[in-house]
Amino acid sequence: MMLLLSLSILVLLTRLTVTSGTDMKDRVRRAAPDACALIMCGPVENGLPGRDGRDGREGPRGEKGDPGMPGAQGPAGLPGLDGSMGLKGENGSVGDRGPKGDPGERGPAGPAGVPGQIGKEGPPGQQGNVGPRGEQGPKGESGVNGPAGNPGAQGPPGARGTPGPKGDKGSPGDKGNPGSAGTTGPAGATGPQGPAGARGPPGLKGDRGLPGEKGVKGDSGLSEVNTLKQQVTALQEQVKILQASVSKFKKVELFPGGKEVGEKIFKTNNYEGDFETARRACELAGGQMASPMNVQENTALQQILAAYNKSAFLSMSDVKTEGKFVYPSGKPLGYANWAPGEPNNDHGGENCVEIFTNGKWNDKSCGEQRLIICEF
Ligand code: GLC
Ligand code: CA
Repeated sequence: MMLLLSLSILVLLTRLTVTSGTDMKDRVRRAAPDACALIMCGPVENGLPGRDGRDGREGPRGEKGDPGMPGAQGPAGLPGLDGSMGLKGENGSVGDRGPKGDPGERGPAGPAGVPGQIGKEGPPGQQGNVGPRGEQGPKGESGVNGPAGNPGAQGPPGARGTPGPKGDKGSPGDKGNPGSAGTTGPAGATGPQGPAGARGPPGLKGDRGLPGEKGVKGDSGLSEVNTLKQQVTALQEQVKILQASVSKFKKVELFPGGKEVGEKIFKTNNYEGDFETARRACELAGGQMASPMNVQENTALQQILAAYNKSAFLSMSDVKTEGKFVYPSGKPLGYANWAPGEPNNDHGGENCVEIFTNGKWNDKSCGEQRLIICEF
């Protein structure tokens, strides 16, 4: 810079020699305003007056200067365009469980249940009317003593009793405290211990003790009766169940060759045999050969025979006395249902009794084979 300035001044001074003073000043002012000060301040030498510098020509263009300092930061530009949309975010966490749904529709009715067991026995019927007054009975015997009642509450203290007889002489009292030391005896051994003192008077009577605890409450007769009633009710229930069970097993057992009539049961073992075989089979089974004692029993027996379409021997015979039929016990017949013309002891050898499917009886040879029917 300084070099350039110095060169400019030198050029100016050279030109001052060929231009007028007024032109020179103007040109200097136009080309380099600061050069005027340098000229004005320069020392004046005694020489020829210079020409006006107004006729000087413009000098050559100077070299390009160094780049200036960067300028101050300009104002902020307009906002740029919006960026493109960002990537999709991750899925959020699972939400809370939704509320419970409404109940479903009512299902169809289930199938009918199996019939229940036999119901319990109904309650007892209403009590009947009061019967007519009976005659006065004889006086009853005294009842037994009732159970002892609970112990009563403790009574108030009784009045003071009369003084009792004089008591026995009391036991000796406690040994007294040792007496004060006696005067010192003569020199020598200590003497023997003296005899026990007399029994002292009895002490004062002690205070009355506290009342004892209340006794345990006795059993109530009523609760025992209730307990028994409950047991009876429970037993009745069990009996009902057993009866129903037995009734069922009877039906099973009597099907097909049995019949129950009154207290008696007839039953065939489905075999055939002669009289003696049938007798032994029934005895072995714990019964005896069929012995109908009335029309009901005879009809029941007939129903078995009709079902099997066979005849059977009865228990009676006249082996012992011809013409006199008796039971195994030896007793004579109490009931008979002979077919017309029977018994006829055909060919003189008919000592047993058979019963046909129509229920009628016929005396027959004991060696024949017949359906075995026992009674129990
Ligand atoms: C005839 C008779 C009868 C006799 C039987 C013998 O049926 O009527 O009484 O017992 O023969 O087989
Ligand atoms: Ca006969």
